[in-house]
Amino acid sequence: MYGANNLLVVPIRVIQRDIPDTMEWKKVFAMIGKVMEDEMNKQINEELYSGYLYLAIAADLEDKNLPGFANWMRVQAKEEQFHAMKFFDHLNERGGRVKLYKIEEPRFEWDSALAAFEAAYEHEQHVTGRINHMMDVAIRESDYATQSLLRWYVDEQVEEEDTALAYVEKLRMIGDHKGLLLQLDREMAARTFTPEDE
Ligand SMILES: [Fe+2]
Ligand SMILES: [Fe+2]
Repeated sequence: MYGANNLLVVPIRVIQRDIPDTMEWKKVFAMIGKVMEDEMNKQINEELYSGYLYLAIAADLEDKNLPGFANWMRVQAKEEQFHAMKFFDHLNERGGRVKLYKIEEPRFEWDSALAAFEAAYEHEQHVTGRINHMMDVAIRESDYATQSLLRWYVDEQVEEEDTALAYVEKLRMIGDHKGLLLQLDREMAARTFTPEDE
């Protein structure tokens, strides 16, 4: 229990539950505040739902005989799980409590690969709105650690929207051309999940 300078070391996790929820204590222990904790738990659910939505799209694309597109969506679903776990870990590191809420049921079917990617693009725009809202809250709460974490998500969302829109545009260009669609499908089969790049 005694540290390098003979000072009494009390494990932070033991005492942080008992400290008053004031700004001073939060600054000392970097413990997450209640408002930010609630937002983060809501976002864990949103990220898990994103993964669920992309798995539903993957299943539909398999059904449409587009295994490459389906593979791309399966990888995307793994990415969303990774996003959820980054918030999960952050909450734990800062003495917060992870709460897993019920995940909404996504739809099962889309009219075409284009319609599915349009849905993904729209969903990413919604998530960007959520991340921006969380950044507003983190600034209001003077929660610098969450602001730092959210910067990663802000950059990630730029990439996510850009990628989804690029496929929407490619699919619009392809139109009814089956040969080009199958060619793009083959290209998309090559995508793999590499968390360190995400
Ligand atoms: Fe995400
Ligand atoms: Fe995403």
